[in-house]
Amino acid sequence: MKICEGRVAIITGAGRGLGRAHALMLARHGAKVVVNDIGTSASGEGVDQTPAQEVVALIREMGGEAIVDNSDVADWNGAKNLIKNAVDTFGKLDILINNAGILRDGMLINTTEQDWDAVVRVNLKGTFAPIHHAANYWREQSKAGKPVDARVINTTSHSALYANIGQTNYAAAKAGVATLSIVAARELGRYGVTVNAIAPRAETRMTQGLKEWTPEQLERRDPEWIAAFVTWLASPASRGISGRVFEAWGYGYSVAESWQHGPITPATKDPSTLDKEIANIIKFSRKNAGIDRDTWLEP
Ligand SMILES: NC(=O)c1ccc[n+]([C@@H]2O[C@H](COP(=O)([O-])OP(=O)(O)OC[C@H]3O[C@@H](n4cnc5c(N)ncnc54)[C@H](O)[C@@H]3O)[C@@H](O)[C@H]2O)c1
Repeated sequence: MKICEGRVAIITGAGRGLGRAHALMLARHGAKVVVNDIGTSASGEGVDQTPAQEVVALIREMGGEAIVDNSDVADWNGAKNLIKNAVDTFGKLDILINNAGILRDGMLINTTEQDWDAVVRVNLKGTFAPIHHAANYWREQSKAGKPVDARVINTTSHSALYANIGQTNYAAAKAGVATLSIVAARELGRYGVTVNAIAPRAETRMTQGLKEWTPEQLERRDPEWIAAFVTWLASPASRGISGRVFEAWGYGYSVAESWQHGPITPATKDPSTLDKEIANIIKFSRKNAGIDRDTWLEP
């Protein structure tokens, strides 16, 4: 059964890895797809139009409809043109999957200003800018009385949710994406738009060589496991689910529960009285969920 028949989807960073898998799966499920990608290196250097062109060719070969878009998602006008490109070509927009991302890992003391700016720009601004322009389009549609049943699916990371060492820039940007998704969900619900985020885990060029996987572990890191969940989230069936962050990979899909209010002690204007009170709330609070306990769901 095709679950996204006739829907129009933009997938950013869809020339490779996870975005490519999302684009192919959505097309197989009947969506018309804008394959956005500037074709840059994993650390955001250079441009190459061929990865996006290859994905479009594959979709057309299987009888689907797709176009290439080479906009830089973190460029304000590039993001605006990306949304316009979808609407001008296919007459509407139903799904925005913000997947483009880059990495420049390093310990905090070695991270340069350029490494910080580039990673925050692509991952965080490159998520906000397309949502901003798409949301304005959906708001206009909704105000004109046209039905809107739209989806935004953003891409965060375990590195952000569970604080991976050596990734201050990437973790800060992706944590921003997670919280942005929850705020956007609250703002855009009135226009018929749901917003969720996924923290995926897959073997792509971004993660290649991190560890030696067994053939079974490698198979569970196939991007298709994540694309199936993303395609469901993009479909009308996910209506009503919004403002959630999901973890997704070949071992399962789960909800990452967000920050919670913990134990509380009365406020004071005398800091010298706080030793016992703060020790007490720490004692009775849950530990931060940690990336070190990384056996989550994996046998
Ligand atoms: N692979 C994993 O396990 C994993 C884990 C957590 C999060 N993620 C996130 O998933 C997303 C996809 O990652 P991937 O593993 O497929 O990596 P990838 O490097 O294979 O794909 C990323 C794509 O984004 C494109 N891109 C980069 N900057 C762009 C820009 N400014 N405009 C348009 N396109 C741009 C690149 O050209 C590339 O094709 C990223 O946001 C990444 O941070 C991946």
